Amino acid sequence: MKTKIINYPDLIEARNRQKSDTIFLDASTAHLKEMEELGKGKKYYIHTYGCQANVRDEETMRGMLESVNFTKTEDPSEADVIIINTCAVRENAEDKVYGEIGNLKKYRRINKKLVLGICGCMVEQPEILQILQDKFPEVNLYFGTHEIDQLLDLIYETYNSDIRLISIKSKQGEVIENKLVKRNNEYKAFVNIIYGCNKFCTYCIVPYTRGKERSRKFNEIMDEVRELKKANYQEITFLGQNVNAYGKDLNEGYDFADILEEAAKMGIPRIRFTTSHPWDFSSKMIEIIAKYDNIMKCIHLPVQSGNDEVLKLMGRRYTREHYLNLVKEMREKIPGLSLSTDIIVGFPNETEEQFKDTLSLVDIVKYESAFTFIYSPRRGTPAAKIDDNVSYADKSRRFKELVKHLEVNIEKDAKSYVGGTYKVLVDGASKTDKDMLSGYTESNKLVHFKGDESLIGKIVNVKINESHTYSLLGELVNE
Ligand code: 5AD
Ligand code: SF4
Repeated sequence: MKTKIINYPDLIEARNRQKSDTIFLDASTAHLKEMEELGKGKKYYIHTYGCQANVRDEETMRGMLESVNFTKTEDPSEADVIIINTCAVRENAEDKVYGEIGNLKKYRRINKKLVLGICGCMVEQPEILQILQDKFPEVNLYFGTHEIDQLLDLIYETYNSDIRLISIKSKQGEVIENKLVKRNNEYKAFVNIIYGCNKFCTYCIVPYTRGKERSRKFNEIMDEVRELKKANYQEITFLGQNVNAYGKDLNEGYDFADILEEAAKMGIPRIRFTTSHPWDFSSKMIEIIAKYDNIMKCIHLPVQSGNDEVLKLMGRRYTREHYLNLVKEMREKIPGLSLSTDIIVGFPNETEEQFKDTLSLVDIVKYESAFTFIYSPRRGTPAAKIDDNVSYADKSRRFKELVKHLEVNIEKDAKSYVGGTYKVLVDGASKTDKDMLSGYTESNKLVHFKGDESLIGKIVNVKINESHTYSLLGELVNE
């Protein structure tokens, strides 16, 4: 099979991007008519790994495919188009993808016309893309995070030829408005406000794979929120690698606090956002979060490490003191605040003392929830070039110790709910017990309780009777 390369990724190009203006485009498909014919009676299968940005990308791809008559299947053996939407943030995410492609490749032998596509952050890395091509000659389409909107044309070309198509560009200054979206959920929605990241933390591959910071126009975002309100959505989550940076690349005069306030005024019952970098979290944002009842009092504030030297090596742009002062201001001004974080253990050459600083910070902040990771070298990032003297066994032990520290407060926090009644947005049947429903409190605690499936998508009152580390057990309170 011949390979046709439209664009090929380049990490150096991704790194050395210029401060160019953001270009705004509307999505369009050249072969729309042909794809409408092609899609009739055909099925697609998409599997997404990784963060909410990928989940939202999947929703766009679903919207595009269903607009040209494809229908969804959960069974890849009956699919005409298979797409694996990948994540590159850590090695274990990539390993799962290799495993899955290994399982799926046989379908290309069975169905010669099958489009087997790999997209997302993994393929944005030239070396990984090469490994994929060498390992899986069956894959006939690769496209990047910046080519999602060309999906239908890429499928058209792949389907109608006997080539492997690669379209992954590393110059990324565009915001493409794509109204086609098939949301995974009818009452909770993700709303992108800013794409990409300019922070270049030294361990992180995201600024290379997702490109420079580009904000969507204020009015486009608000139109989307208005539509969601009209469709009776109960919860929206504003998405960005760093939502705090919203608007800095535009001359519109709006910042993230303005986004929150305008959306709050529209009356969506629950407004959330993720992620916030501690470096540019403004006091104005804190005030707006405190002011509106429908902005959830939940802030995801990744700290990564509690030690100043490690923070510096990570390129995080703040000190332990700055972070703790910010937390203090938040806790003072936002009653009932629930703080969550991301922490990496085992950054290259992290000493036992430096790790202890992370433990002590965790004990001071008392997070209500946390995501913890063992450092995973990402080729092309500055941290991956550092010789590391910490053994994996030590990293693993530190990881367990950290989780133990975090769980002390997480359990204590969970216990404080017992006896109280809380508003819960009902998600569906509980994963562990089909007779139970599950949902989340405003503070993002998972709750299980008995109830009728007609409550799914509604906000109900639940009295909490029992707490576990990561969930609560309660009963429905009838008003
Ligand atoms: N190794 C381990 N964890 C990482 N993260 C990002 N890059 C790496 C890496 N190379 C974590 C950070 C980030 C979260 C999304 O993933 O904690 O906040
Ligand atoms: Fe990665 Fe840092 Fe950007 Fe977060 S802020 S996406 S950790 S570079």
